[in-house]
Amino acid sequence: METLILSADDSDLYIGGEIIRNGGLVGIPTETVYGLAANALDGQAVKRIYEAKGRPSDNPLIVHICELSQWDSLVTAVPDRAKRLADAFWPGPLTVILPKSGIVPNETSGGLDTVAVRMPSNETARKFIEYSGVPIAAPSANTSGMPSPTCASHVINDLFGKIDAIIDGGECSVGVESTVVSLTGEVPVLLRPGGITPQMLESVLGEIRIAPAVYRKPENGIKAESPGMKYRHYSPKAKVILIRGGFDGYRGYVESHKTPDCLALCFDGEEKLLSVRALSYGGENDSVSQAKRIFAALREADDMGADTVFARYPNDGGVGLAVYNRLIRAAGFEVTDV
Ligand code: TXA
Ligand code: MG
Repeated sequence: METLILSADDSDLYIGGEIIRNGGLVGIPTETVYGLAANALDGQAVKRIYEAKGRPSDNPLIVHICELSQWDSLVTAVPDRAKRLADAFWPGPLTVILPKSGIVPNETSGGLDTVAVRMPSNETARKFIEYSGVPIAAPSANTSGMPSPTCASHVINDLFGKIDAIIDGGECSVGVESTVVSLTGEVPVLLRPGGITPQMLESVLGEIRIAPAVYRKPENGIKAESPGMKYRHYSPKAKVILIRGGFDGYRGYVESHKTPDCLALCFDGEEKLLSVRALSYGGENDSVSQAKRIFAALREADDMGADTVFARYPNDGGVGLAVYNRLIRAAGFEVTDV
């Protein structure tokens, strides 16, 4: 299939919207990561998303909206605490799960009776949804299991020839996927950490619960609260070793375990203190910069032909919880203490 590369200009967004209305797939920028968009209300179109990504069909998609009236039509009701979340954080990197209405096909909800919805803050994304005229189902626009895409070239690498078009809207400003919170039970549950931190959620909701799978590998046989959490994720081809401790311990570990093709994934300024190839994924005390860089850095590790990646353990507070969550998955849930 020929894949059109489009700009974020109005005339190109219009072409993208037309592709969506015709049941096609378009890679689009959002503030978090690039998404692979289809008409969320068209089960056949959504099926093509799973095929293009190689995604297991029981892993539900997030539905993206550009105005609140679309939310009303997708869920059975918008309770007060959901309204307060939307007031505080939409448009923005927050996804809210509620019981779904009859218009949401099973393909979109992965067979569940709930639906995940978010209103992105990226203006190109919102305009694209508006031009499409329908709510947009969009998982991250990567091949399933690969690091999520944070610029158009990542989408081109993974999906060129498999989808109808890609809109180049530059680099994503947040860099990790949205925070996912479920409001289907009594206590709100944080299913995936992102740019909206647990503290920010608590400031609106009061008490929340953090799903165990945010920190640990879900045990075999136990049903994950969010289907996506049971799959291997964000992994470059290289083996990722996540190393917790100070820089001296990290350097000692790297120097004694280095291979000819290894890569040190470190913090700004540490590159020149190591004898191996090194790449920074942000400032040591700057979780926001780490979030923005982490996926591109994991992809770069593959481009550089690294066989082993020695990754510095991030500060896991605030937005850092999202960085930690992505890295621990890339490392197969193993941490090496030094
Ligand atoms: O930032 C984002 O959220 C990006 C951009 C494109 O908006 N999208 C994204 O989608 O990350 P995806 O499909 O890669 O991740 C969606 C996550 C998965 O872990 C999925 O299992 C979970 O949300 N999810 C979706 N619907 C759900 C539901 N009804 N119940 C529980 N988990 C759900
Ligand atoms: Mg994804």
